[in-house]
Amino acid sequence: MHVSDFVAGLPKAELHMHIEGSIEPERFIELARRNGVAIRWQSVEELRAAYHFENLQDFLDLYYDGCRVLQTAQDFHDVTRDYLRRAHADRVLHAELFLGPQGHTSRGVPIASVMEGVLGAMEAARDEDGITSGLIPVVQRHRSEEESLVMLDALQPWHGRLLGFGLGGAEVGNPPAKFAEFFRRCRALGFKVVAHAGEEGPAAYVREALDLLRVDRLDHGNACVDDPALVAALADSRIPLTLCPLSNLKLQVVDSLAAHPLKRLLQAGLCVTVNSDDPSYFGGYVNDNYRACDEALDLGREGLAQLARNSFEAAFMPDAQRRAALAAVDDWVARASRRAVH
Ligand code: HPA
Ligand code: ZN
Repeated sequence: MHVSDFVAGLPKAELHMHIEGSIEPERFIELARRNGVAIRWQSVEELRAAYHFENLQDFLDLYYDGCRVLQTAQDFHDVTRDYLRRAHADRVLHAELFLGPQGHTSRGVPIASVMEGVLGAMEAARDEDGITSGLIPVVQRHRSEEESLVMLDALQPWHGRLLGFGLGGAEVGNPPAKFAEFFRRCRALGFKVVAHAGEEGPAAYVREALDLLRVDRLDHGNACVDDPALVAALADSRIPLTLCPLSNLKLQVVDSLAAHPLKRLLQAGLCVTVNSDDPSYFGGYVNDNYRACDEALDLGREGLAQLARNSFEAAFMPDAQRRAALAAVDDWVARASRRAVH
């Protein structure tokens, strides 16, 4: 069995993807037409050609602008369903989805349209394909903490249907400490909490996310490599990192995939996972990320299987479901080893 097929059939969880970053160009143009939203590009080719970024802010400018095509509950339903269908095809058994409500309410879209559209599509995907998913709203770190608290309250009608809360957006100059009270409240309400940290920001931001925000999981977290004591602490605690290698390459967080810290961190015993972040912008879904990493870092089947196991260890899912998913990984590895290897 070729490694590409091994990845294709490997059961996995995806834990770091933004719904707004998964709108494929075809859907983007269709939504713009449907809603009468003027966009700068007229064809799928023009749109794809525009996806070149020097850094995170460069990308975020285009990403927030792209959100304008999302207007109705049906739009949110369609893009969420598109992603979950694509993830199911990559043998993602469980996905945890980021959504940035402030990017929509600030444009005048009712929060109910956003939430009902997304949550309805998640239910449809579970019923039709058997893929489970959870929703994690992320607040934008360039906005004030006060605004994040307003968002927490505005989401109150849906609290029972959410997994947790997160923090995303422009990292440098917006340290985790800015959101200490927001995270305290989320935790007090019983939510899981995660934060983007150490993507463009320093190792100190990763430490802050752990010590001050007390996150259950770190999104990216790459910068921990600059602090050996932090790497040792992460190996010890098994607090997971949701790495996004193709995203890091596109946003020039790393110069090449061969230089990505994924393998070093995996070998150091950290619970690292591989994810797509914003698949339509960064040129790959989760399996593309697994394959590109194997090619650049020579992970081998054992490494790839470990990443899949880590994804279920790191998922916010019931233990019975976790055990079943881990058994499915073992099953696939055993099945693959009985077939011819090239
Ligand atoms: N980093 C921060 N915020 C984001 C990202 C990212 O990679 N993708 C979407 N929002
Ligand atoms: Zn992200």
